[in-house]
Amino acid sequence: MTVLRFLTAGESHGPCLTAIVDGLPAGIAVDTASIDRELSRRQGGYGRGKRMRIERDHAEILAGVINGETTGAPVALRIENRDWANWHEHWYTGDLPPLTVPRPGHADYAGMVKYGLNDARPILERASARETASRVAVGALAKQLLAKFGVRIWSYVKQIGPVKGQIPDLSYVKLWELAEGSDVRCPDPIAAKKMRAAIDEASKAGDTIGGVFVVIADGAPVGLGSHVQWDRRLDGRLVQALVSIPAVKGAEIGSAFDNAAKLGREVHDELFPDGAGSVRRVTNRAGGIEGAMSNGAPIVLRVAVKPIPSTISPLRSVDLATGEATNTEYQRSDVCIVPAAAVVGEAMVAFVLADALLEKYGGDSVAEMKR
Ligand SMILES: Cc1cc2nc3c(=O)[nH]c(=O)nc-3n(C[C@H](O)[C@H](O)[C@H](O)COP(=O)(O)O)c2cc1C
Repeated sequence: MTVLRFLTAGESHGPCLTAIVDGLPAGIAVDTASIDRELSRRQGGYGRGKRMRIERDHAEILAGVINGETTGAPVALRIENRDWANWHEHWYTGDLPPLTVPRPGHADYAGMVKYGLNDARPILERASARETASRVAVGALAKQLLAKFGVRIWSYVKQIGPVKGQIPDLSYVKLWELAEGSDVRCPDPIAAKKMRAAIDEASKAGDTIGGVFVVIADGAPVGLGSHVQWDRRLDGRLVQALVSIPAVKGAEIGSAFDNAAKLGREVHDELFPDGAGSVRRVTNRAGGIEGAMSNGAPIVLRVAVKPIPSTISPLRSVDLATGEATNTEYQRSDVCIVPAAAVVGEAMVAFVLADALLEKYGGDSVAEMKR
């Protein structure tokens, strides 16, 4: 049932990243500055490495937009890799020594075996999360479509390592402002300070640190997704999209894991008349999805990010060229990417919801969708 699709191509140190988005309706006034704003949000965050100081991402639109509006044709995007200038000499000459020691937690080992390679470079070039810049640009387009239908996507960081934020009971707009003003994207300033200290500590120890971010979609109409087939279920589609982000290893809808320890009557969000012939709820433990469809409440997703695998202090591994035990060699890397992953999470949620919205309302143009 997918109406909206995208594919990306590009390597971490290749000339550029690209994306083709197919299925966007005609008539979205594309705000290119806001795509670049989203890209720069992905590049930020306390704990990012030197690479992000080299890159200043900009999405160039190559197709599908004429006179500033989508035409209904596939949209093609290109994001230049500035680091390419440091790499292009090596790119086609094969003069770099092969990387024969797979780094635990990376795609290296499985990729080398799967593709029959004695060098991890071709694997890590594409497995690198640099690819998520393309996803954020695609998500920015999806957000522009969703905004026309009153759907907004928010995110914040809830936890870095063992430090958990006490998230204040504020409107999403206010939480958003606090998160946007924090380099760890945490709306609890006391926890944010401790999170920065935890990142510093991990960095000093030559280590990395993970955490949990939350994505909220507010304003989605009732009935996105469907209970009728497994692959139309909105819950499954959202979790798949989130867990497809590199380093994301889990996603829950609402307070799923807390709910699992409770009894049914403590969990389910009771319905009350809203006085206008519809219903209201006073809780949202289901996270805005019942029976695999949006139920009108905010869609709330909590997402677990592992500590990223490139640690300055080495991990034990095996040199596949010799079969000997050895240690990993450090590659330039971030220490904590949870704030950046939250921005990628927003993009993936925006994409899934834009697809579900198109599926529900159809239409080849925004005007037709609105009708
Ligand atoms: C925005 C972002 C940036 C990342 N940067 C790094 C990095 O600098 N170093 C690293 O080891 N992993 C980084 N990762 C995670 C790895 O790409 C990922 O863990 C690895 O490719 C293995 O995939 P998996 O964790 O999904 O199994 C990053 C992930 C994201 C979302």
